Amino acid sequence: MAGNVILVGFMGAGKSVVGRLVARRLGRCFVETDDMITAKEGRSIAELFADRGEAHFRALEEEALALLSLKRGDVIATGGGLPCREGRPETLRALGTVVWLAGDFATLYERALSAGHRPMLASRTPEEVEALYRTRLPYYRQADVTVETAGLGPDQVAARVCQALVSTAT
Ligand code: S3P
Repeated sequence: MAGNVILVGFMGAGKSVVGRLVARRLGRCFVETDDMITAKEGRSIAELFADRGEAHFRALEEEALALLSLKRGDVIATGGGLPCREGRPETLRALGTVVWLAGDFATLYERALSAGHRPMLASRTPEEVEALYRTRLPYYRQADVTVETAGLGPDQVAARVCQALVSTAT
């Protein structure tokens, strides 16, 4: 059993901030698939999208996913689109406990817009982003655990994730 904790959710769900906090609380290492990609490619996610397009980025995500099979006991934050392909939820669940950081679309969207440049938002209207969000929900819903983030700060969400992990372990 690889025993990782894998955070999934839409852009703006707080996967990076909460993931870091959860890793500290559990005394585990924290890894982000987006970081694995930028470290390998030597370019930011925004640059990769601009230079090579989304399809190339998705291929890099696939490579990062393959490397995750080497991980044991880590807390892993995935990019918002990584779990959303046929077979991915199963692949992620084989790596450990998958936790969906859920929230209402308006809050996620606002947070995603305000924090950093996100190429998936750049060329889309709010309605198009909401449509993307809806197509992704069936994938996120396949997580082992759902943590609702609405109205909570990162520390509170991290605490709920840890509680949920204890409940699933016992
Ligand atoms: C993406 C989300 C981003 C990043 C890339 C694509 C997506 O990660 O992987 O820009 O398709 O939703 P965050 O979810 O951390 O913003």
